[in-house]
Amino acid sequence: MCGIVGYIGKQKASSIMLEGLKRLEYRGYDSAGLAVLQNDGVTVIKKIGRVDNLSAHAAKQKLSGHVGISHTRWATHGGVTDANAHPHVSSDGKIVLVHNGVIENYVAIKKFLLTKGYDFESETDTEVLCNLIAYHYAKEPENGEGTRLLDSVRKTLSHVEGTYGIAVVCTERPDEMVAARKGSPLILGVGDHEHIIASDVSAIISRTQNVVYLKDGELVHIAKGGFTISTLDLTDVSPVIDTVTWSVDDAELGDHDHYMLKEIFEQPAALENAMRGRFSADGSTANFGGLNLTAADFRQIDRFVFTSCGTGWHACLVAEHLIERYARIPVEVDYASEFRYRNAPLDRDALFFVISQSGETIDTLAALREAKRKGYKCMAICNVVGSTIARESDGGIYQHAGPEIGVASTKAFTSQLMISAMFALYVARMRDMSFADGVDYVNALKQVPAKVTRILQQADAIADIARRYAKYNDFLFLGRLSLFPIALEGALKLKEISYIHAEGYPAAEMKHGPIALISEECPSVFLVPKGELFNKVVSSMQEIKARKGRIIAIILEGCELPEGLADDVITIPDCHDAALPILATVPVQLLSYHIAVARGCDVDKPRNLAKSVTVE
Ligand code: AGP
Ligand code: GLU
Repeated sequence: MCGIVGYIGKQKASSIMLEGLKRLEYRGYDSAGLAVLQNDGVTVIKKIGRVDNLSAHAAKQKLSGHVGISHTRWATHGGVTDANAHPHVSSDGKIVLVHNGVIENYVAIKKFLLTKGYDFESETDTEVLCNLIAYHYAKEPENGEGTRLLDSVRKTLSHVEGTYGIAVVCTERPDEMVAARKGSPLILGVGDHEHIIASDVSAIISRTQNVVYLKDGELVHIAKGGFTISTLDLTDVSPVIDTVTWSVDDAELGDHDHYMLKEIFEQPAALENAMRGRFSADGSTANFGGLNLTAADFRQIDRFVFTSCGTGWHACLVAEHLIERYARIPVEVDYASEFRYRNAPLDRDALFFVISQSGETIDTLAALREAKRKGYKCMAICNVVGSTIARESDGGIYQHAGPEIGVASTKAFTSQLMISAMFALYVARMRDMSFADGVDYVNALKQVPAKVTRILQQADAIADIARRYAKYNDFLFLGRLSLFPIALEGALKLKEISYIHAEGYPAAEMKHGPIALISEECPSVFLVPKGELFNKVVSSMQEIKARKGRIIAIILEGCELPEGLADDVITIPDCHDAALPILATVPVQLLSYHIAVARGCDVDKPRNLAKSVTVE
């Protein structure tokens, strides 16, 4: 959830950490802090607010040290105050620590430490960690191998329940750092005479593209210009150094006002990348090398279970629609957070899928682990290469959408829809879909990036509409079949970034309750399909118009609405049904974005939200 950056090398640690924190700020941003080892002690600065505020305070201090740890916080335990911000320092002043996650047994540990004379200055769960490390460090003898700090951290973590990514330094050991993870991502960057610990590669790539993805239960000890990795139960681990393919430019804002807008405009490229190299030579189906299952394996599967959270869950609903429609295989969709606790009965030959942009969402990871524990094969659709979910799944499909920084997911979502459409085709072609229908389907998907570009060309017109609707405080989003999940996604986008109350419904459900909300003050966004349901949706629109509700209609070219029914119309190119959810998403993203901007909201850092939710 939060961001961690630790530096140990020859450069000024504070500058590198502040740059890294800036890149991680999208992960959580209620407060930020840093600690630099210098002058035989430590200088700690921590402030509520954004990283810029921390930078301004840091600029007033002399920070020359080469070793430090830093953090952006997304509060779980204790309010947003300077005292609760990280780093935390043990009450004997020796151990300094940043933490991402939640220590579930912190009350019991705190009670114990109070009896041992340790004091607490914050309301966080985190502070028990640095005091418990200090407690073990005080008892641990100095040893010839120089592992006193590492051993103290290991002992501490053996008493801890919960999740953590931590980075620890000690004022008595100015050339060392220990980091460890369980349930929260942590990556080691191996640079030129320097090491960087971070919760996300984006904080590392400006220094090096060589990284080690730490696994749960591993500790890294950086000392004397090198590092070692071991597990909590004292097994040495040989590190695997991966190369990150993203470059710094991919994560830069460029000329755009916000990451969200940049990423909306990156969708044609992200959709191309989702398809690249994945269609069969005869152009009638898709191929996914990473699934590690043969066509014969797939024929044994009689049900898919898809789980995810938030926007990814909406992608699951689209996958359900497409797979059931084209491949005629039943699909069950569950919120990951519910699946992990509800002990769902699963079919014997079900195949489990999770969808996660970050690959780190704790609920989704837990659902994956639960399904694996039951012996099911689990596939992951992920954007972040090397993420925990990508590594723990049995196979999967990388999205290749490039880094998504905006908290509100946009290009990752449409890329998930594209992959779902391709996967539906893949299984459909193993069953009833003909060669000719397969070729039509593939050709239709190939046209999607250009069609999205055409919608993006209407961005100014959509912005004009958005500005006229920015004053309303309630919205309905209505769609049917594969457009119902897009109605949910439109409502979620608007809620997330403009704080407007919005609900998504199947259009025909509206008359069973939500219609009571309709008035001149509650506009509806209709996602209008073509074909047999067109007239049904038009009837739903009439019901709203009869009650003076304002209507924005998103319709396909060639469809004509009765004169005066919609107050505003946004047209999208006609397309194959498998492509419809992708195209219909773009206008709702632009509407939400421009409404939020018109209301003066901080689009890239909406209140209370973090990009990747790594706590329960
Ligand atoms: C999307 O706009 C949200 N911020 C959020 O719902 C997100 O989709 C969800 O937290 C899942 O994240 P993931 O895809 O990284 O697992
Ligand atoms: N639980 C810790 C706190 O509330 C860490 C939160 C975070 O991950 O940012 O301070």
